[in-house]
Parts: sequence; structure tokens; C-alpha cells
Amino acid sequence: MKILYLNGPNLNLLGQRQPEIYGRRTLAEIEAEVRKRAIKLGSEVEFRQSNSEGELVNWIQAAKGRFDVLVLNAAAYTHTSVALRDAIAAVGVPTIEVHLSNITAREKFRRKSLIAPVCVGQITGFGTTSYMLALEAAVNINAR
Ligand code: DQA
Repeated sequence: MKILYLNGPNLNLLGQRQPEIYGRRTLAEIEAEVRKRAIKLGSEVEFRQSNSEGELVNWIQAAKGRFDVLVLNAAAYTHTSVALRDAIAAVGVPTIEVHLSNITAREKFRRKSLIAPVCVGQITGFGTTSYMLALEAAVNINAR
């Protein structure tokens, strides 16, 4: 199984960005942890990060036929992007929404996810573990 992890704006700053909210691990460290577990589960993961909404849309579109599952931390675009939502709906690759922080326990504007209704499910608030849980969910996506 091939799983594509897409990471949105400012997630390249993980490790130094508000560590009290997002933790002290860098995205590369999270990727290494996920990759180790993925090997044990017999799956293949690819990680990408972009600060650009359009690039994320392009990657979602290109995932069709190439990846079995998308894991998406759309970061701030979670709360604003009709374009990402439409791309997920159009492409039809099962998508799991992840967040490091608990978006429902933060500012009001973060409580609304525009992408949630087109995702299989949402994992939010477990820090790095959110990414690991998403992997478990992804490999079991057909067992729902
Ligand atoms: C985030 C939560 C978003 O509200 C925020 O804009 C982010 C990160 C998270 O992983 O907790 O950049 O998606």
C-alpha cells in the first residue's frame, strides 16, 4: 500500500514553531518515525510539504492511481480552502485529515474544518502520534 502524507503551510517550521502547541519534533523527525513503522506494516510512505495551496491541489490531483490513501495536514488551509476540499472530492482517493493540535479546543476559527466532510475521518490533538495513528488508519482503510 502506498500512502502520501501532505503537509501544508508553516509545517516546514515544526520543531521551532510554537513548540508548546506543535511539539519539538521537526517534520523530518516525524517522517522518520512514520517511515519506520510503515516498513513494519509493509507499506510505503512519501512525505511532502508546501506552503502553496495550488501545489497541494496539484499533488492531490496527481495522487489518483498512484497512491492508495492520502494523509493530509492542510494546516491553516484546513479552515479556509474550498479548493482543497474540491480536489479531495474530485479525485476520490480516501483521505485522512490529521492535526498535531486539537483544533476543536483552540480559537473559534480553527474549530471549522472545510475538508472534514470529504475526508474518511479526522485525527486531531495527539501531536506526533496523530501522524502514527493516521498510518494505522490508512493501512486499515479497507477494513472499515
Ligand atoms: C494544524 C492546526 C491548524 O489550525 C494550524 O493552522 C496549523 C497546524 C495542526 O496540525 O495542529 O498550521 O493543522
